[in-house]
Amino acid sequence: MSKGPFTISTPIYYVNAAPHLGTAYTTVGADTIARFKRMDGYDTLLMTGMDEHGQKVADTAEAKGMSPQEWCDSMEPAFREVWDLLDINYDEFIRTTQPRHARTVQKFWNDLYEKGWLYKGRYEGWYCVHEETYYAESDLEKNEDGVFVCPECHRPVQQSSGEENWFFKMSAFQDQLLAFYDEHPDYIQPVTRRNEVVNFVKSGLKDLSISRSTFDWGVPLPFDEGHVAYVWADALLCYFTGCGYADPAREGEFEARWPMNYHFVGKDIVRFHCVIWPAMLMAAGYPITQKVFGHGFLLTKGEKMSKSKGNGVMPKDLVRVFGVDAYRYYFMSDVQFGHDGNISMERMVQVYNADLANTWGNLVSRVFNMTGKYFDGVVPAAPASAAENPLAKIAADLYRTYNEAMNAVDFTAAAAAVQKLASAANHYIEDAAPWNLAKDPARADELAAVIYNALEACRIIALFFAPFMPNTSAETWRRLGLGDVNAVTDIEGEAAWGKLPAGNPVEKGDPLFPRLNLDDIDLNMD
Ligand code: ME8
Ligand code: MG
Repeated sequence: MSKGPFTISTPIYYVNAAPHLGTAYTTVGADTIARFKRMDGYDTLLMTGMDEHGQKVADTAEAKGMSPQEWCDSMEPAFREVWDLLDINYDEFIRTTQPRHARTVQKFWNDLYEKGWLYKGRYEGWYCVHEETYYAESDLEKNEDGVFVCPECHRPVQQSSGEENWFFKMSAFQDQLLAFYDEHPDYIQPVTRRNEVVNFVKSGLKDLSISRSTFDWGVPLPFDEGHVAYVWADALLCYFTGCGYADPAREGEFEARWPMNYHFVGKDIVRFHCVIWPAMLMAAGYPITQKVFGHGFLLTKGEKMSKSKGNGVMPKDLVRVFGVDAYRYYFMSDVQFGHDGNISMERMVQVYNADLANTWGNLVSRVFNMTGKYFDGVVPAAPASAAENPLAKIAADLYRTYNEAMNAVDFTAAAAAVQKLASAANHYIEDAAPWNLAKDPARADELAAVIYNALEACRIIALFFAPFMPNTSAETWRRLGLGDVNAVTDIEGEAAWGKLPAGNPVEKGDPLFPRLNLDDIDLNMD
């Protein structure tokens, strides 16, 4: 029976360039949670997509000599390829140029217009095209030449032409937002991000310009066709589209899914998700998404990785060296999700060899090999004493620890909990020394218990590693003669000790994670 809906989003990414390691980081994180929630019995929906409107994308298209629509269409395969390569199991792919999304945007803003939350005014201020963000002069920095630049990306900003725009009365929601943060201490995670948002709102909210009339690459506002929606007033509504809002083909789904559970975003766009978006929802009378997680940035040599400042290493390059599972594992386990994290080839190889080649992969090889050698490649029947062992004790606690860590979006802790069982299983084998037991026919029962327990640990480790590493976990289950681990919908029940049937064939197979040597890798992250 389903535990109910669980809905999670990545941002929809600007289509000015193909996905890079940073955008992939958010997406892998959201997919890892979504895979766990599916395995834990939730009716899970993961949405991602492309943010196609706005001046930045229009400028990119022009530079490529294409119409904006042609450019966006040409980028869809680039995005889908990377997500397929990284085994992102998304349910909804939202493009803001889809008619279903235009319907959402028009219906939503028309509703706010009718409710009296919009008015026409002149925007006097600055705009950063790269960040698609309005800035007051006091927010700006100056570069060496005395030119005003964006405080986020440090590119020169544009002064508004003072044209007429539609404004959303966002300032009216200041107190309501502060009360909401107060009543929902878990809404913004981690807590450092929460404090930033609270302080920002406390310092005073301005009304928000939600339309542009000086260019037309956007969704036209139904009550004033000369205006298109500001790109964020368009993009944030992708979450409604993903849940089926204003979609006659998905009757009843929006009501069942809203409010959704999680927005995963980088810290650069927490304000949009935790100030503008909830204010829009309050004005329209909808409940607010339960949680927003603003993770840190991936850095190389201390600098934020980005599409424009790319060092040339793309997800596919790393997958070629490490394989997709190890790619996912590295980013999820080694970079604490709430913090900025330096990534490097040295570190990737180190984590790969220590955790995957020498611990988890090594465990599978030696245990499956010994099953071949001592039991003709068949799971031995476990004597009653087999249930009493240190591995069963660790496994008994695993669901609780792992579930807690995943709910706190602490991938590092969830992976460490599984890794603990793998290390313990390696030690268990060292201590029990099956190669000695095998020499003594009087100890046949002990040998069967040790091998059974070690195989059972492998089954359970693969089960909990599946959200991180869906391929090697599926392969491990296959080699144990079991079904599709990624189709499990009761991970807690499957984690019960002793579910591995005696008599199952066990296939040795090649190493899951062959050792890597840094000197053999021809990729440079610097
Ligand atoms: O902001 N480290 O799109 P965007 C970690 N279209 N994550 C990173 C990163 C890095 N170095 N660089 C980028 C937009 N990201 C809007 C979103 S949502 C309604 C609209 C990730 O293409 C991170 O998730 O600029 C960040 O928030 C996102 O990419 C920005 O992607
Ligand atoms: Mg950006």
